[in-house]
Amino acid sequence: MKMNGRLPKKITRRAFLSTSAKLAFGIAGILLGSSGLFYYGAIQQKKREARMTRTSELPGNIVKIGEMEALKALQGFEKVAYSATIQDAWVTNSVQGFVYVTKSHTGELLILSPSCTHLGCTVEPATEAQRMKKKELFFLCPCHGAEFDKVGDAVGVVVQGLDTYKPITAGGNVYIDIALPIKRT
Ligand code: FES
Repeated sequence: MKMNGRLPKKITRRAFLSTSAKLAFGIAGILLGSSGLFYYGAIQQKKREARMTRTSELPGNIVKIGEMEALKALQGFEKVAYSATIQDAWVTNSVQGFVYVTKSHTGELLILSPSCTHLGCTVEPATEAQRMKKKELFFLCPCHGAEFDKVGDAVGVVVQGLDTYKPITAGGNVYIDIALPIKRT
């Protein structure tokens, strides 16, 4: 058999120990790195939550909707008023408004904008008499008659469902970012 003239390198005990130590440090570094990131994320989350409970430090567009426990027990829907300050470039606007808080078909908290998706009029709760005629009807637009059900989906007329807001929970309370309504797709 033809040899290439080089003998295999002998692995000394010192070289073996040195390589093993580097390998062990490498693995420890990776593990510490990922747990470090995990703990860093958890600490940041705690800080965010602490900030949310100090209402004086909240950005003006984040508004409290209510206490989680009370909202969980909600039956039907509730109209919740808010005051917000929205910063738009260098202009600051004070806004008074309200949202409808209800539950999705699966019982999740659902926060609906009252702004009609046709031309922006404010939708109102349907009266008992109106609901007797159409039981899925919950919200009605006084301008051109668009109708919406309990979860804000349009009933009959071809308009988009009502915009929603993502609930943000912190310190046992629920908040929304009023500057970020979510359109239905
Ligand atoms: S603005 Fe609501 S139906 Fe037209």
